[in-house]
Amino acid sequence: MIQALNLSFQVRAQAGEINILRGVDLAVGAGEAVGIVGPSGSGKTSLLMLLAGLDRPTGGTLSVAGHDLTRMNEDQLAVFRRDHVGIVFQAFHLVPTMTALENVAVPLEFAGRADAFDRAEAALRSVGLGHRLTHYPGQLSGGEQQRVALARAFVAEPKLLLADEPTGNLDRGTGGHVMDLLFGLREQFGTTLLLITHDPLLAERCERQVRIEDGRIVSDGAR
Ligand SMILES: Nc1ncnc2c1ncn2[C@@H]1O[C@H](COP(=O)(O)OP(=O)(O)OP(=O)(O)O)[C@@H](O)[C@H]1O
Ligand SMILES: [Mg+2]
Repeated sequence: MIQALNLSFQVRAQAGEINILRGVDLAVGAGEAVGIVGPSGSGKTSLLMLLAGLDRPTGGTLSVAGHDLTRMNEDQLAVFRRDHVGIVFQAFHLVPTMTALENVAVPLEFAGRADAFDRAEAALRSVGLGHRLTHYPGQLSGGEQQRVALARAFVAEPKLLLADEPTGNLDRGTGGHVMDLLFGLREQFGTTLLLITHDPLLAERCERQVRIEDGRIVSDGAR
């Protein structure tokens, strides 16, 4: 599902070049659950952005779901995401002018699904938000927004689900429920899970943990 070789990501900032990722090798098979752990600022979110085709690596090779992301233009990357990837962002990225239901229905409408709103409603019910369908993000708590973001990420049954701290704002009970949902997706659809987390409970549920420090993989449970 993921084949990254010697991946680097460098950005130019006012203070000069910053090497955010330096030579990351990562191979993830279909249906694996991988927990990405590591200190704040180590490059976890940056790696997720590359895997999602939202940023471009400055070096190395990267293929996801059989697509060489380094050879695709922006339009091709958008179609790639629509067809293969669900993303839960660290800061949710919900559309503030859309209700919870509309936010979740967007990826389905985008894919031309006639049942977009029914499925979106079912997804929101499954994360315990059946009573918040018509609320706008600004009217939802942090944990509720996180669950809307999660519903939006899995509603189209992606092959690959990338999630950045999916339980970061949730209490233990709600977090446990969200974890059950994520691992249920894998069981039901064979979804590959790549979960960035500081939550030891979530990391432990992944059969493989990859640790990133200072832009490098310093340990990988598969090796
Ligand atoms: N566009 C950018 N320009 C400059 N520096 C950046 C940019 N994006 C990320 N960085 C820096 O790269 C480093 C890695 O950031 P990243 O967001 O990947 O960390 P992280 O591991 O996800 O951290 P956290 O656990 O706090 O979310 C940080 O030091 C960050 O300040
Ligand atoms: Mg991060």
